[in-house]
Amino acid sequence: MRLHTTLVLSGAAAGLLLAACSAAPAATPTPAGPPPPLSLEPADLQAEYAALPAGDPATGQTAFTTAGCAACHALEPEKRIVGPALAGIATRAGERESGLSAELYLYKSITRPDAYVVETFTPGLMPKTFIDTLTPQTQADLLAFLLTLK
Ligand code: HEC
Repeated sequence: MRLHTTLVLSGAAAGLLLAACSAAPAATPTPAGPPPPLSLEPADLQAEYAALPAGDPATGQTAFTTAGCAACHALEPEKRIVGPALAGIATRAGERESGLSAELYLYKSITRPDAYVVETFTPGLMPKTFIDTLTPQTQADLLAFLLTLK
């Protein structure tokens, strides 16, 4: 008898669980329409940058190739592929835009490529998808690597 009660109870519990599970999809918010444009405010860039995990330059160096950056960016000075050579970028980055540190300029370059277009280069060539396709960890690793290119 006791066993029977337990079975009935667990049957009821399973039913409740099932009900909870089948109700779950309706509770998941579905994205509606295009996302709002990315903010270009330094304070917002700073907040996003600060939210990234700590980056590792050696992992970032590997990611520079695996994420496809190396297809367009040489690491040798003055070598132009599709995009500008990134040799010395850690030094130049802090001078590109007034009010933006090297860190924030590089973060902005990866996540909002066309917001600032390097002189003599064409906008629209660098993919705008890295903010979504690269994990925060890979973004942080790439930034840590770029910051070593003094
Ligand atoms: C299809 C080619 C292409 C790919 C792939 C690409 N870029 Fe770019 N990138 C460009 C071009 C073109 C520019 C210059 C135009 C501009 O500023 O938007 C640029 C600009 C930059 C700049 C600014 C350089 C400066 O001198 O101020 C950085 C930093 C950068 N890219 C990093 C990256 C990283 C990191 C990746 C990989 C995650 C990457 N890019 C992938 C084409 C590319």
